[in-house]
Amino acid sequence: MSRRLAWALVPVVLVGSIVAQLRSADSSTPDPAAVERARKQVRMLDDLYKTAVVLITEHYVQDEQAVAAGTAARLLFKSMKDKGWHEARLIDATGEPYEEKNAPADEFEKSAITQLKAGQTFVDTVIEKDGKPYLRAATPVPVVSDKCILCHAHYKNVEKGQPIGAIGYIVPIE
Ligand code: HEC
Repeated sequence: MSRRLAWALVPVVLVGSIVAQLRSADSSTPDPAAVERARKQVRMLDDLYKTAVVLITEHYVQDEQAVAAGTAARLLFKSMKDKGWHEARLIDATGEPYEEKNAPADEFEKSAITQLKAGQTFVDTVIEKDGKPYLRAATPVPVVSDKCILCHAHYKNVEKGQPIGAIGYIVPIE
């Protein structure tokens, strides 16, 4: 190969490698419109779950022996996960969970609880699992009814308007 030809190839190789890098960045950064759709899905699920759990508590819980809102929510979340839709979990924000496993479990959950207590209503981040993008989100759970206090006595000490917990979501970005 002549020297001239070799030099002429340099920009081709450079441009080629830049394009390859852009392509790989593209596949790991999901389309903003897809992220927005995942957010909308979380908002819809959040309204659905919260409405369902509050209705169950209002109409069916008479005393401490009843199937708790927290237990009903956990079973509902598990069934949706088993069907492959998404993951959701109840997280404590008071430092005194009924079940230790409901305490904030990692950096995302700890930081989400701090932000929700400071007044944010929606916290999220894009994560990757098995090479696929997911939206990880958290929304606040307020004390919505006096019945909550039947079982979570310490909720009555929580400042008005402060969340006592959160729902954490992991939803596929498609
Ligand atoms: C009948 C008793 C009972 C009532 C009423 C009840 N809970 Fe719970 N709650 C529980 C139990 C038991 C758990 C643990 C569930 C589990 O993880 O299996 C729980 C878990 C939770 C958690 C997860 C953190 C933790 O403490 O483990 C939150 C948040 C929560 N409940 C909020 C509420 C809210 C809000 C209400 C009112 C709408 C409510 N609960 C009503 C018994 C109750």
